[in-house]
Amino acid sequence: MIESVIETHQLSRSFGSLKAVDGLNLLIGNEIFGLLGPNGSGKTTTVLMLTTLLKPTSGTATVCGYSCFKQQMQVREKISYVPQDMAVDIKLTGRENVWFFAKMYGVTRPKDRVDEVLGILELSDRADDIVRTYSGGMRRRLELAQALVHEPEVLFLDEPTIGLDVSARRNIWEHITRLKKNGMTVFVTTHYMDEADHACNRVAIIDKGQIVAINTPEYLKHAFAQDIISIRISGNYHPIEENIFSYLGNDGDTILLSAEDGLNQLPEIRKKLETAGNTIREISLRSASLDDVFLKLITNRSEPDGFNGHKFRTMLRRRG
Ligand SMILES: Nc1ncnc2c1ncn2[C@@H]1O[C@H](COP(=O)(O)OP(=O)(O)OP(=O)(O)O)[C@@H](O)[C@H]1O
Ligand SMILES: [Mg+2]
Repeated sequence: MIESVIETHQLSRSFGSLKAVDGLNLLIGNEIFGLLGPNGSGKTTTVLMLTTLLKPTSGTATVCGYSCFKQQMQVREKISYVPQDMAVDIKLTGRENVWFFAKMYGVTRPKDRVDEVLGILELSDRADDIVRTYSGGMRRRLELAQALVHEPEVLFLDEPTIGLDVSARRNIWEHITRLKKNGMTVFVTTHYMDEADHACNRVAIIDKGQIVAINTPEYLKHAFAQDIISIRISGNYHPIEENIFSYLGNDGDTILLSAEDGLNQLPEIRKKLETAGNTIREISLRSASLDDVFLKLITNRSEPDGFNGHKFRTMLRRRG
């Protein structure tokens, strides 16, 4: 039984006729909880409602036992929120940015606390430099420092690592994991499945405002995804009948299939593909990742032609 930190019942939000969030039921305890979903699936809308910044169309939500819509002040005392878009003032120094938040929250002994959070986020050396001179990773760490200055119980992070390089991303996740170890509950949205897989205790996959799967990353990998066969072909893909495998999508000229017992089915799949007129350049087998679970769930719901991984990644890069 999870002891509730965040709880929602049929939480919904529409914009005109669009159901951005549609009947969300969540029970989140003291954990790192990841909300994963494609662009426009309702992640930010959910976070805005849980952080009291947006009213729902219907349904309820509580954080630390307080209603997000009737007891906003009590909720705000318990939480912090780092939005998807950069929220630091680049004309000020790092220390001044954090100081502003400390004063805003009425933190006691602000000077000590500002020094402390700058230290935790490894920004002490550069704290008195203008933020304009910071890298993307440092700015994101500064936002975390701002969010932590009043010692929240629950931290909401919307896409904390988007646009950062691999090592800056890893660094942010190390900080997030450390916060959880010290007792904080973290609700995080991300596009990066591998990061969610490593860091989150549980994840929910949201699509078109609805949860399509929710569990630990390990469980989801076992339950939804099987062995993954990737096949690089020359020319167009000539589809074959899907009886012993299912088609996940394509990433450029590579076709992704999932199969129950990939190793034993590989020869037959290869034969069928070649008989159908496909020219195979390369074929490989691996066990499923959270990425595959995501592709499978989202593909089955939304794109009859399969999910175009290449298109998806290009879109993400543009956002960065
Ligand atoms: N203020 C608004 N007015 C109208 N439509 C909105 C508004 N905010 C969000 N939407 C729509 O609601 C849907 C969900 O948007 P939301 O920002 O929650 O998605 P998201 O999952 O955070 O996407 P992304 O991964 O791109 O950040 C989208 O179709 C979006 O266009
Ligand atoms: Mg968003």
